Amino acid sequence: MNIEKIIVDNFASYKGKCELRFNTLGKTISIAGNTGSGKTTLVIDALTFALFGKAYGSDLEKSRGWVVRGPAGKAYVELVFSIDEVKYLVRRSVIASQGRSESEATLYRVIYDGDGEKITAVARGSREVDQKIRELIHMDYKTFMNTVIVRQGDVSGIVEAKPSDVRRIFEEAFGLDFSTALEKAKAEKNLREKRLEEIRGEITQLKRRISEREEVVKQLNSLIFEVNNLNRKREELKTEINKLEDEERTVQRELDETKSKLLTIEEKIEKLNEIDREIKTLEENVLSYIKEVEEEDEYRRRYNDRRSKLSILYEAMPQIIEIQNAETILMEKRKLQNDIKKELVKIEYEKLINELDLFKQNIEREDEIISKKHKLKLRIDEIKGRINVLNEQIRELDSIRNILDVAIEKGEITSCPICGADLTIEKAIKLSDHYSNEINTKIEEKLKLEKHLSVLEEDLDKVEYELDKVKQYKALINPTTEKIRRWTELNEKLNEVSLEIHDLEEKINEEGRALSLRLGKTYTYREAQDTIKAIEREIDEIQVKLDKISEEKVRLSEIRSTIKKLSEERSRLVAETSSYNIIKENFNKLKSKLMEIDKLLDNNREKLNSLSKEIGLIEGRIEENKRKLNEISRLEEELNKLNKEKESLEREIRVYEIIVNDIFSTQGLPLRLLRSRIREVNSYLQNYARKLLRDIRVLIDLSEDKINFKVIRRVDGIDDEKDLSTYSGGEKTLIGFCIRLALAKALARRIGSKVRFLIIDEGLGPLSKDLRSSILEALVELTNEYDKIIVISHMEDIRDSAVFDSRVNIYKDENGNSKIQIPE
Ligand SMILES: Nc1ncnc2c1ncn2[C@@H]1O[C@H](COP(=O)(O)OP(=O)(O)OP(=O)(O)O)[C@@H](O)[C@H]1O
Ligand SMILES: [Mg+2]
Repeated sequence: MNIEKIIVDNFASYKGKCELRFNTLGKTISIAGNTGSGKTTLVIDALTFALFGKAYGSDLEKSRGWVVRGPAGKAYVELVFSIDEVKYLVRRSVIASQGRSESEATLYRVIYDGDGEKITAVARGSREVDQKIRELIHMDYKTFMNTVIVRQGDVSGIVEAKPSDVRRIFEEAFGLDFSTALEKAKAEKNLREKRLEEIRGEITQLKRRISEREEVVKQLNSLIFEVNNLNRKREELKTEINKLEDEERTVQRELDETKSKLLTIEEKIEKLNEIDREIKTLEENVLSYIKEVEEEDEYRRRYNDRRSKLSILYEAMPQIIEIQNAETILMEKRKLQNDIKKELVKIEYEKLINELDLFKQNIEREDEIISKKHKLKLRIDEIKGRINVLNEQIRELDSIRNILDVAIEKGEITSCPICGADLTIEKAIKLSDHYSNEINTKIEEKLKLEKHLSVLEEDLDKVEYELDKVKQYKALINPTTEKIRRWTELNEKLNEVSLEIHDLEEKINEEGRALSLRLGKTYTYREAQDTIKAIEREIDEIQVKLDKISEEKVRLSEIRSTIKKLSEERSRLVAETSSYNIIKENFNKLKSKLMEIDKLLDNNREKLNSLSKEIGLIEGRIEENKRKLNEISRLEEELNKLNKEKESLEREIRVYEIIVNDIFSTQGLPLRLLRSRIREVNSYLQNYARKLLRDIRVLIDLSEDKINFKVIRRVDGIDDEKDLSTYSGGEKTLIGFCIRLALAKALARRIGSKVRFLIIDEGLGPLSKDLRSSILEALVELTNEYDKIIVISHMEDIRDSAVFDSRVNIYKDENGNSKIQIPE
């Protein structure tokens, strides 16, 4: 196996895509750079990530996620490697986010055809790719780390470890750690021993149960004998039952036949009874019909009678109607007569005549009253004139007396109001008294006149009243004359109506008499109608009755013929049912016989039942015993199986004892295998020591469970073996380096694959500068064993050593991202 090219992208300290082509570099390559610049990351971590999905020297699966830059993102690696001239390309990436990671992987085969390189996938997905790579390179991660890579820690660790730990380191390197296998073998052994113990217990129990077999067989035989006996008895009983059942069937059949005969006869008897009942009813019907038919004549007579009465009534009907009409008219006339009489009374003829006279007399006095009125009016006017003159005179006299009275009152001398002469108080007083008397006389006269005037005015009122009366009478004269005329007219009408009433009464009396002679009584129109209706109804009823009677007559003859037929059938049935008693007796006999048989049968069946039950019980027991026997056979088989299992367990336990005690014990197989491997390592170690250590020889010594390193120095031509601790630090590192190289070589040979490259990561740690350069020179000699020897170091002298064909510088840029630089 060899590496050709590695590409990283966003991988640990590398940001973006970085590529390193080993195939363009020489055989010896120096990878140089400061501490933490990214050397190991590129050459070892990217390599193990691509091949095994692991990094940072950790065997843990989760280590693949550690290479992601920062808390989240995708890291990618591509590796081209070759095995026996066949090229492969593996691509792996891991995406981490929120503490979880997901990985992808694909392995391709790289084929060169005329046009260039082509790839075809040979495995996909982490699991498949892991498996395929392991098959190709014949190494797991651990072996790869021990075979291809030499790290400083490995080198110093191996020489400084305790001898017992060194053995463990070698065992692990060669995959000879059998401790888990030993534990497993012990566990298996224990498991088997435990099972063996169980089986022994089970076998003892089985044997005990199998020993019951003889007893079970004995019981089974006796039960079979018993059941055979019972079965025979049961067969006998069954035969008897069969016989009885045959007999039962025969009797039952006879009984059924008899029963059906009886039923037929009973039906006929029933029929007979029915006929008797029917005849009886019919005869009763006949009697009632006869009675009704006998009434026929009476109905016919009544029918004719009613008919003739009806025809008389029909004939008289116009006359009845005429009388009825005349009576109606009579009633109307009488009402009219009454009304006229009432009106005549109301008119008060005598009073009217008197009034008319009064009116005429008054009207004749009209002129006389008018001239009386005229005279009265003249007289009144004259008196009124005289009263006015008196009033004037009184007023004048009164005003003179007032003037005088005022002067008298004041005591002044005044002049006479008439002649103008001076007057004294005494004269004035006399004069005033004179005027007062004068005034009184005038007033008396005026009062007399006024009295007369009122009498005259009263008379005038009377005359006026009389004139009004005359006017009224004039107005009343015409209506009164009219009323009198009406009275005369009504009086004439009354005479007329009275005559008519008389005529009508005569006529009604006459015709009524004639009709009552014909009909035996007088009928009003209503009565006549009602009577006609009643007679018609009666005629209808009689008609119905007569119809019914004629129907009954027909029915009667029918019934008579039915009775005759029924009587005939009856005599036939009487003859047919005469054997009833004999058959009935036979039926009863058969019935009691059947009952006897049934009883016997029940008895026998019961016996059979209990016998069957007994047999069932015994058969159950037989079955149980058979089951027991089967179970015993099964147990015997089981015993056989258990015995076989026991034997094989005992054999296996013996084997495991050998494995535990002889093979996997520290003294066993591992020791032998390790011895052979160490022999191999020793032979390579001699070779490397000769080249790198010159006068020092190293031998790996395996004794019991420890590995010691025997270091022999040739001092003055004589071998001197001293403890490792007596050697210098640099010498110890060199010894460790040789051992590590020898181990790597032995491993590479073991796994059968030719590992064509070696990576030494700071493997030359504490060596002096001289020693480092001499080792580097010695390494060149390894170039015939490896196609590529890659030395990683931060030391300048190593970097600059002339032994390297190619140099690669790794550095971190100003942003802290790892970068690759290959100097010209
Ligand atoms: N997932 C990561 N993301 C970013 N940086 C990382 C990650 N893993 C490791 N590193 C850093 O990458 C740098 C390179 O480490 P590396 O082991 O390759 O250094 P080196 O060159 O081998 O140094 P030395 O000479 O000390 O061995 C270190 O600074 C390390 O802390
Ligand atoms: Mg490193």
